[in-house]
Amino acid sequence: MKKTKVLFVCLGNICRSPMAEGLFIDLINKKDIANNFLVDSAGTYGGHAGEKADSRMRKTAKKYGVNLPSRSRKVQAEDFEKFDYIIAMDRSNFLNLESMKPSDSQSTLLIMRQFDVEKSSDDVFDPYYGGIDGFEDVYHLLKICNENFLDYLLSKN
Ligand code: 4NP
Repeated sequence: MKKTKVLFVCLGNICRSPMAEGLFIDLINKKDIANNFLVDSAGTYGGHAGEKADSRMRKTAKKYGVNLPSRSRKVQAEDFEKFDYIIAMDRSNFLNLESMKPSDSQSTLLIMRQFDVEKSSDDVFDPYYGGIDGFEDVYHLLKICNENFLDYLLSKN
């Protein structure tokens, strides 16, 4: 069976998209369907390339038993050939990805909060400049969005 390839994208690839990636991996592991997926994350800004997720996000992940395997990297042209789904954390990331996407790319661009139930905003807000509470809020938000995103993928395949 062909793997479904999913890339989560934020700005720095140290806060939101590493958590989105970690939560998605956790979900597919629990459903015993991890072999059907290839999951990664990246950022539209490369200034944190090579770094682990932000320590506040790692602390939040540890609290909830989520593994964050990511090392920050910048989105690259090949991502638009490789990944079936590229999911932006906010509208700014989405617009950047849209402008980078080659015209012959088959990747589907999505925005994470389209999978939220109580969609009070289009954006998974950026917790980077705030306190630990923001990281916790992003965790809960991404958990709901990811559950619905996985249901969406499973309903299509
Ligand atoms: P992220 O958060 O996009 O969720 O990884 C940020 C991380 C770093 C910066 C901005 C946002 N920064 O400007 O360095």
